[in-house]
Amino acid sequence: MCGIIGYIGNRQVSNVLINGLKRLEYRGYDSAGLCILENGNLEILKKAGKVYELEKLINHQQYTSTIGIAHTRWATHGEPNDINAHPHTDCNSKIAIVHNGIIENYFSIKKQLQAKGFTFKSETDTEVLAVLIGAIYEKCQNLEIAVRTALSEVTGTFGLLVLSSYEPDKIIAARRGSPLVLGISKNEFIISSDATAIIQYTSQVVYLSDNEIAIVTNNQFTTKTMNNQETKSIIHKLDLNLEQLEKNGFEHFMLKEIYEQPNTLNDAFRGRLLVDEGTIKLGGLRSVYDKFRNVRRLILTACGTSWHSALVGEYLIEHLAQIPVEVEYASEFRYRNPIIYPDDIVIAISQSGETADTLAAVNEAKNKGATVLGIVNVVGSSIARATDAGIYIHAGPEIGVASTKAFTSQLAVLTMLAIMLGRMRNLSAIEAKKIINELANIPDKLKKILENAEHIKAIAKKYCKSSNFLYLGRGYNFPVALEGALKLKEISYIHAEGYPAAEMKHGPIALIDENMPVVFIATQDEIYEKILSNIEEVRARKGKVIAIATEEDEVIKNYANELIYIPKTLPMLTPILAVVPLQLMAYYISVELGCNVDQPRNLAKSVTVE
Ligand code: AGP
Ligand code: GLU
Repeated sequence: MCGIIGYIGNRQVSNVLINGLKRLEYRGYDSAGLCILENGNLEILKKAGKVYELEKLINHQQYTSTIGIAHTRWATHGEPNDINAHPHTDCNSKIAIVHNGIIENYFSIKKQLQAKGFTFKSETDTEVLAVLIGAIYEKCQNLEIAVRTALSEVTGTFGLLVLSSYEPDKIIAARRGSPLVLGISKNEFIISSDATAIIQYTSQVVYLSDNEIAIVTNNQFTTKTMNNQETKSIIHKLDLNLEQLEKNGFEHFMLKEIYEQPNTLNDAFRGRLLVDEGTIKLGGLRSVYDKFRNVRRLILTACGTSWHSALVGEYLIEHLAQIPVEVEYASEFRYRNPIIYPDDIVIAISQSGETADTLAAVNEAKNKGATVLGIVNVVGSSIARATDAGIYIHAGPEIGVASTKAFTSQLAVLTMLAIMLGRMRNLSAIEAKKIINELANIPDKLKKILENAEHIKAIAKKYCKSSNFLYLGRGYNFPVALEGALKLKEISYIHAEGYPAAEMKHGPIALIDENMPVVFIATQDEIYEKILSNIEEVRARKGKVIAIATEEDEVIKNYANELIYIPKTLPMLTPILAVVPLQLMAYYISVELGCNVDQPRNLAKSVTVE
């Protein structure tokens, strides 16, 4: 959830840490802190609020240290205040840690330690681990052994960095469940929860595996299992550049990412649309191609926005390939002992590739013998590495907490997968060609929607004071309604509900009065007439209708208070276009209300706790 960074090398470390935290701030942003070794002593600065607040504290100090660790927090245990901010130390203030994750048995360990006379300053689970490491160190006088022993006693998840004045030449890193990447440069190392904080120093990285520990000094690093067995590290090259991490003139990352969509879609398609053959090439699935021939059922699992794309995936795959598909919330899937057959294929969809619930679902499905695949954005992420094979969506770093470009790229990939599966079955080359040709046109059509942003902004201004919104759509556009409502909730804190339009009369219709804006995705498809009837039902109750409609649809003008046209396309491809006005509307409403678009309250970009 949070971001952690550690540095050991020859640069002035406080600058490196602050810059790193700024890159990581999208992962968690309720408080921040750092610990550096200055003249042999641990110096700790921490502060509730944004990294900027921490930076203000540092500006008064002249540090020379070249080794340190830092953290930007997303609180799980204890409110976000100065004391609960990381780093946390042992009782002698000689060992400091930053931690991403949850120590599940912290309470019982805390009780045991308190009974032995150890005291605590914060309410966090993390401090318990710090104190435990300190207590063990008192006996063994070896930092690495103390860390390994303590970690064998805790349950839960951690991405952890440890710095100590007892052994001032090293940082110890360890992971279980939460990601850690080690950046390797000449005589310097940067360890972080994600590559965004590393790329400005080096593109050579090692991804720590689960239950791995790394001992990093100025000029070397060793990786081991928690049982002290040395492990072999593979050095990967990051495919990331700094420009992708900047706003490039846009006011917010979210807006930049919305505008990137024509390009990110083309990146998702690149080399995969075989128009002449009427098929799709997904290289990442080569090793499991045969399994798809015999598959009797697909299970798509994900959270949040990625779960919405899974719903569209269900419609696409069942329609084009006639394979039964189930869509499961990853968090539910894991704990309800799901029935999984050995010839099932489970596909986890995740932008970050780090969502703890989705990762746990992957492991559950693997344990039950299914083939498990990933549709993931972040290369080298935990889900990408835990799955048997997969498809990268290639959307580039998504920094805005509200997912936008990852959603449309997931839809693009799911469409390609559905066509590929269809072609293995009954989908004809001619039919497939028609879809592929239209898919190739989608980026240009999306551009046309972006050109209409001012109109959407005006609508946003008009309705931004509403306390509730309903989003309704049918068929392929039902998940788009859910996604539109989620976007609005996340960044403007306005209550919004998404429903299949026909479900409205089974309950939500009671909410409708003259103050309720109802967003209809009312594009021209087989159920267009039905949607018009649903609109009538809203109008009859004085609700305000905002319609997303197909361009040149004249009829809809008589039905809607506000109209946003999108270009005509195949119904199955409509979600990729129809969601864009909803992203823009949520964005402009959030800006109008003065909310923090990129870092909405209580949220974090990758949810690495269950
Ligand atoms: C999206 O706007 C949300 N912030 C959130 O629902 C997100 O989609 C969800 O947490 C899943 O994340 P993932 O795709 O990185 O696994
Ligand atoms: N559980 C820890 C806390 O609440 C770490 C949370 C995080 O990952 O930021 O402080």
